[in-house]
Amino acid sequence: MMNYAKISQTAHYAPSQIVTNDDLAKLMDTSDEWISSRTGIKKRHISLNETTSVLATRVAEQLLEKGGISADEIDFIIVATITPDSMMPSTAARVQANIGAKNAFAFDLTAACSGFIFALSTGEKFISSGRYKKGLVIGSETLSKVVDWSDRTTSVLFGDGAGGVLLETSERQHFWAESQFTDGLRGESLTSGRLGLSSPFSEKQEDTRYLKMEGRAIFDFAIRDVAQSIKSTIEESQFSVDDLDYLLLHQANIRILDKMAKKLGVTREKLPANMMEYGNTSAASIPILLSECVQQDLIKLNENQTILLSGFGGGLTWGTLIVTI
Ligand code: ACO
Repeated sequence: MMNYAKISQTAHYAPSQIVTNDDLAKLMDTSDEWISSRTGIKKRHISLNETTSVLATRVAEQLLEKGGISADEIDFIIVATITPDSMMPSTAARVQANIGAKNAFAFDLTAACSGFIFALSTGEKFISSGRYKKGLVIGSETLSKVVDWSDRTTSVLFGDGAGGVLLETSERQHFWAESQFTDGLRGESLTSGRLGLSSPFSEKQEDTRYLKMEGRAIFDFAIRDVAQSIKSTIEESQFSVDDLDYLLLHQANIRILDKMAKKLGVTREKLPANMMEYGNTSAASIPILLSECVQQDLIKLNENQTILLSGFGGGLTWGTLIVTI
C-alpha cells in the first residue's frame, strides 16, 4: 500500500508590536509613499522579546490543539529559518523541548525564503516513506535582528512572524508536483549572518551579521527564473493553471506578484497577498499566508482545493509545490 502525506492543519503567529511605514519615517529618510508604492508593504510585526523559537512554539502549540493530538504523537519537527536563536541547539530542538514532543526528532533547514517549500517537501518524503506518521513543518523568523536599521534600502522590507502546518498520513495523494532549485553562483546577491574563520591558526575574518541585498537583481530573478519554473512545474503536472484555486507565492513585493500574475496568465485574485501587514518574513511568509487564507475561508481544508506554493530568495534558491488541500 502506498503512503501519502497531507496538510491537516495550518497556524500562524506574529509578535503584537506593529511598526508602520510612518513609524519608520521617523527613524530614517523614507516615507509611506516610497515604501508602499514600490513594495505594497504598509506595516510589519517586530518582536520585542520573543525569539524565533518562541514564535515557532506558539505555532506548534496551535497545530497540536487544532489537530486534537498530543505532543508525543509528533514524529518530527522541521523549522525553516535564517534567523535561529542559536546554531546549536537548533530552533526546532527548542520547539521540541518547549512543547514536550519527546518522540520527535527535530532540525532546522536553511534555504531563506524558499525554506518552507524545501522543508514541506522534506516532511512529505518522511511521511510517504511510511516510517513516520505526524510531523510539524514551521517557518519562523525574527528578521528584525539581522536587518541593519541604518540602511533604509533593506530595513523597510522585512518583518517577524511564524507559520506552519501539521503533516499527517492520508489514504490518498495530495502532493502532485514539485521543483526545487539552487544557484549558488548568484548567492552573493542576497547575504546575511556570515561567520568568519577565527582560530589561532587562521587569519581572522570578519563576521557580517546584517542582511544585504541587490534588490534589482533579486526582482529580475523572481520575475524571470521563478516565473519560468512555476510555469514548467504546472506544465509537468496533470493540472492546468485554471485548475489551481490559488497560487501562494513568497511575499516580498506586490509588484512581483502583479508581474507573476501576468506571466502566468491568471487574475491577481488568484495570488493572495499579505505583505501589506507583515512585510517580507522570509521562510515564514508562505505558511503565514496559507494559514490566513484558511482562517478567511478562501482555502478550505478537506475540500479538495488545489493550490500552488512557491518560494524564492537567498542562496539563490527557489521551489514550487502543487498540493491538494
Ligand atoms: N525610502 C526612500 N528612498 C529609498 C529607500 C527607502 N526606504 N530605499 C532606497 N531608496 C532610494 C534609493 O536610494 C534610490 O535613490 P537614487 O535614485 O537617488 O539613488 C531610489 O530610492 C531607487 O532605489 P532602487 O534600489 O533602485 O529601488 P527599486 O525601485 O529597485 O526598489 C526594492 C527597491 C523595493 C528593494 C526592489 O528592488 C525589490 O523589491 N526587489 C526584490 C526584493 C525581493 O524580492 N526580495 C526577496 C528575497 S528576500 C530573501 O530571500 C530574504
